Amino acid sequence: MGGAARLIAASLAAIAVACLALRGDRGERPPHERIDVPSVAACGRCHADVYREWSQSLHARAWTNENVLRATRNFERESCRACHSPLPALATGLDRAPDYREFNQEDGVHCLSCHGLPDGVAATRTIEGAPCRPRAEPRLGLAEFCFPCHEPTHQAFSEYAVSNARRDGVRCMDCHMPEREDGSGRSHGPHGGMNPEFVKLALDWDCRIENDELVVRLENETGHKFPGEIPSRSFLLKVDFGEAGSETVLLRKPHKQEDREDDRLLPDEVRILRFALPENVEDVRVRLLFLPLPLLPEEHAFVLGEWSSG
Ligand code: HEC
Ligand code: HEC
Ligand code: HEC
Ligand code: HEC
Ligand code: HEC
Repeated sequence: MGGAARLIAASLAAIAVACLALRGDRGERPPHERIDVPSVAACGRCHADVYREWSQSLHARAWTNENVLRATRNFERESCRACHSPLPALATGLDRAPDYREFNQEDGVHCLSCHGLPDGVAATRTIEGAPCRPRAEPRLGLAEFCFPCHEPTHQAFSEYAVSNARRDGVRCMDCHMPEREDGSGRSHGPHGGMNPEFVKLALDWDCRIENDELVVRLENETGHKFPGEIPSRSFLLKVDFGEAGSETVLLRKPHKQEDREDDRLLPDEVRILRFALPENVEDVRVRLLFLPLPLLPEEHAFVLGEWSSG
């Protein structure tokens, strides 16, 4: 046999063994124990809709997205591994980061990172006879459920703790996992900074001319700082006075060791920005932009809103 043929034969044999192993395991172990195989095989074949939503979210790409690979040096930095490839968080508890899953890392925040229980899957209600053994688990419905990964290094939870949303009983999932229109449950994504329609929900705003000034009012409607958590995201306010020039305000989280103030909007903050009108200005244009990635050219920014005096 030539080298290439030998290689092909060997590959086919390997695939056959892998298929057998998969089939064998499926027979032996229930789905709720299958965190060792990707979400699509463990849960996705029965929960296709949830799987499709999840796979478009950053939870699915927590181990593979480029920002993370760069920042963690391809996860050589061990301290970065646990939340980006977590074992079931409910097992370790809601007051600390989860443990690291040292296999099947490409699956990122796996279905079972959130749903895994020793004897089934955490669900809103117990369903007898379902193959994955859904068990009513009240902790799944708490805002604290998002704490183990989103607080220890990223502080979304402590910002949220002092927000009006918290006071009014609006949980993280009420915003980030909205009810599906067909009433079949809550959407698993993508509802974060990569989704322009979702980001538009972050601000209530208006503009007006008052005496010699343009007055812009920005109100943070998220339950945490805006832009939230991820330092790659930034908010840009562009004021265009036509021939008379322009002004830009940039709000974002500083990177570690960066000499920059954290000038993001606090939860529920109303910020009034005033700009003196240049003389003889005819038309004033305001644009609210959101850049999900720092080096993205401005023409690719999400446009959250536009206003013009004319
Ligand atoms: C062989 C098919 C199958 C597989 C594989 C499977 N499930 Fe299920 N799952 C079901 C069925 C059937 C139900 C019950 C649906 C119902 O009665 O509304 C269910 C219910 C659930 C529920 C409760 C839904 C609710 O309304 O509260 C959750 C959560 C869940 N599954 C998660 C998972 C997860 C996570 C995995 C992967 C570990 C998984 N399932 C794998 C078939 C499956
Ligand atoms: C306690 C859990 C936890 C640990 C430990 C952790 N992360 Fe994260 N990481 C998150 C969460 C949650 C997010 C998403 C929200 C955010 O960015 O704050 C995230 C997002 C990121 C992002 C942004 C990804 C994007 O899409 O732009 C980068 C980069 C990142 N992490 C790098 C790191 C590095 C580097 C380390 C180690 C020094 C680390 N993380 C350790 C939980 C964690
Ligand atoms: C980041 C955590 C997280 C991940 C990852 C996750 N889920 Fe969920 N899931 C939840 C939460 C929280 C709820 C309950 C929301 C509520 O109703 O309060 C839920 C609800 C559900 C339900 C109940 C029915 C519905 O649609 O609301 C099913 C089924 C389900 N998840 C399956 C899955 C599957 C399958 C995956 C992987 C493809 C997955 N989940 C990944 C957190 C997660
Ligand atoms: C087991 C760990 C874990 C839990 C629990 C968890 N997350 Fe995450 N989440 C992450 C990580 C890690 C990322 C960052 C992925 C990346 O960008 O690399 C992330 C990213 C996100 C993002 C950005 C997603 C996107 O597609 O833009 C949102 C929004 C988010 N999480 C909300 C939540 C909410 C709400 C909860 C609670 C229901 C929750 N998460 C629970 C680990 C977790
Ligand atoms: C009242 C609605 C609301 C509540 C409550 C809320 N968020 Fe958000 N969140 C948003 C909106 C809107 C955005 C998008 C704008 C932005 O980047 O701030 C966002 C952004 C984020 C991001 C950045 C995602 C990305 O890809 O850039 C993360 C992570 C996040 N939220 C996590 C959480 C967690 C964890 C909680 C609870 C502790 C929570 N959020 C509570 C509305 C909410």
